[in-house]
Amino acid sequence: MPLRNGVNFMNFLDHCKVLITGASSGLGMEFARQLAPRASTLVLVARRVERLEALRRDLERPGLTIHCRQTDLSDRADVAELVAWLASTGAEINFLVNNAGLGDRGRFENSDWERVRQMLDVNISALTQLTHALLPMLKAQAGAAILNVSSVASFLPIPKLAVYAATKAYVSSFSEALRAELRGTGVRVTTLCPGPVDTEFGEAASRPTSPDLVSPPEGLRVPAQKVVADALCAVEKDRARIIPGWRVALMMGVVAMLPMALLRCGLNRRAR
Ligand SMILES: NC(=O)c1ccc[n+]([C@@H]2O[C@H](COP(=O)([O-])OP(=O)(O)OC[C@H]3O[C@@H](n4cnc5c(N)ncnc54)[C@H](OP(=O)(O)O)[C@@H]3O)[C@@H](O)[C@H]2O)c1
Repeated sequence: MPLRNGVNFMNFLDHCKVLITGASSGLGMEFARQLAPRASTLVLVARRVERLEALRRDLERPGLTIHCRQTDLSDRADVAELVAWLASTGAEINFLVNNAGLGDRGRFENSDWERVRQMLDVNISALTQLTHALLPMLKAQAGAAILNVSSVASFLPIPKLAVYAATKAYVSSFSEALRAELRGTGVRVTTLCPGPVDTEFGEAASRPTSPDLVSPPEGLRVPAQKVVADALCAVEKDRARIIPGWRVALMMGVVAMLPMALLRCGLNRRAR
């Protein structure tokens, strides 16, 4: 059995105690579905608590404890309350899935500030605050993991998704640095960078006045089930980063090799 820092990482997900943000929809709900047969505790976090309760009824089985926590992650007091509740329950979380996130499609100059604030607070602040608050708990476990959901949007600036792409650049950069800092502590960090996935994300990111953007080619779409299965496999293998779907991974490999001057031509065209 592979031992890292004296910790056995095989079958880490069996009996894990996991907290998933954004579990009311899309990838977060799929994480809950795929982890439910293996985990011993699921803490499901989102604002739409009725959806979390419906999910709990679906996933309930003997040996699995499910908590639903209504939390607005754009509200720091709400996040602090979630952390205090976790400490009071003695939940001993050993797997943190920072998945909740939102986008905003359109030019920055026309954006609604409240929407931008929410994006910064959910995608960056809440992820960082939760990670900071839970680290002592994670380090106290015999092996723990953090999975931060970023995006392929983190690899390059994207006009008409400017703030969203920048928040995801933060997530990818923060996660890689944290992974290096935590080497030797028994806490591993994996960054998930999906390409386009059919969830409620696109609709939630649209503005009433958003121009119709060209949809990504069908071949680049990866089903939520595969994105989540690949991400969980990457966590068990202690991989630093996972880009689900070979076409998406190949495309991002090519993008990474392009000179910035060439990329700017594409960015300028997209911004028009
Ligand atoms: N879908 C894609 O194409 C795609 C691609 C790359 C990366 N991603 C990333 O994947 C992650 C999951 O997105 P998804 O595709 O599953 O989108 P989704 O279906 O819209 O789900 C977003 C989740 O985030 C939660 N959330 C949003 N704002 C929140 C807030 N203020 N407080 C608490 N929870 C909040 C939502 O819950 P409530 O509304 O109930 O609060 C929901 O559960 C995001 O980080 C996204 O950036 C998605």
